[in-house]
Amino acid sequence: MDPRATVHAQTPFEPCGHVFVVASVDRYRRYARELCGPHDAVLEIGCSSGEATVVMAKRAARVVAVDVSVDAVERTKERFAALAHVSVHRIDARNPAGVAELLADPTLVFLDIGGNALLDNVAFLVRQCLRLFAPRALVVRSAELAALSAMTEVVEPFERSPLRVVSHANRRRFAMQCLLDQSESCKVDIRVFAVYRFFALRTPACRDRLEQMLADDPHPRVKRLAAAGLAHWDDPPSSARPLQEESASADGA
Ligand SMILES: C[S@@+](CC[C@H](N)C(=O)[O-])C[C@H]1O[C@@H](n2cnc3c(N)ncnc32)[C@H](O)[C@@H]1O
Repeated sequence: MDPRATVHAQTPFEPCGHVFVVASVDRYRRYARELCGPHDAVLEIGCSSGEATVVMAKRAARVVAVDVSVDAVERTKERFAALAHVSVHRIDARNPAGVAELLADPTLVFLDIGGNALLDNVAFLVRQCLRLFAPRALVVRSAELAALSAMTEVVEPFERSPLRVVSHANRRRFAMQCLLDQSESCKVDIRVFAVYRFFALRTPACRDRLEQMLADDPHPRVKRLAAAGLAHWDDPPSSARPLQEESASADGA
């Protein structure tokens, strides 16, 4: 480990081994080099064009790389097409059930949704990763979290970690809880994301929440999408088009 790095919060997360917080992409990739070994199954969130993925792919038994960007995933898929132990997927990592389906038990998780991403967004994904998985290490790239961590003098040890792992059996419930939390976010784009997920899942609980959002959400875009979702509730399950069209016309409005 870099001796200049501040090592605090000595109490390890249970049962996650270690959390590494970095600000720079160089340090992030260096951890990919130092931590990945031949027995590791690595989940990489925010793979972009695959620069860190290359490092992981050389060392780990399996690498599942995800990114929300269609372009990045297309390019990165091509780049790793010849490697059977590497797979690249387009998914928004805020979809916990979708991510867990791709790799149920990663031994290492690397999370980089952009060094300058808002701490709220990074924190949401950190919490999700630590609750869903029990990796031996989680490496997070976030300038804001790194700055906050470096300023921290004292960490009071917790008696009971709020970041305990969710059992496989409870994952579905946890995924729904994540979605409900997102549907109450103060950020419109996160509530919009939740509406899309409710529509994709289409369970009775999803419908109840969409009806509430239609009635209570303060933003017209969220209301419009919720209304479109409810209007198309009985369409074939694969169809998300009504919401996409609704979203496109709302964006253009
Ligand atoms: C700075 S890049 C990652 C660079 C990479 N770590 C490297 O070493 O080359 C951040 C990536 O995170 C992706 N991203 C942002 N939010 C995301 C989300 N919610 N789910 C998945 N990927 C996300 C972006 O599309 C972008 O490609």
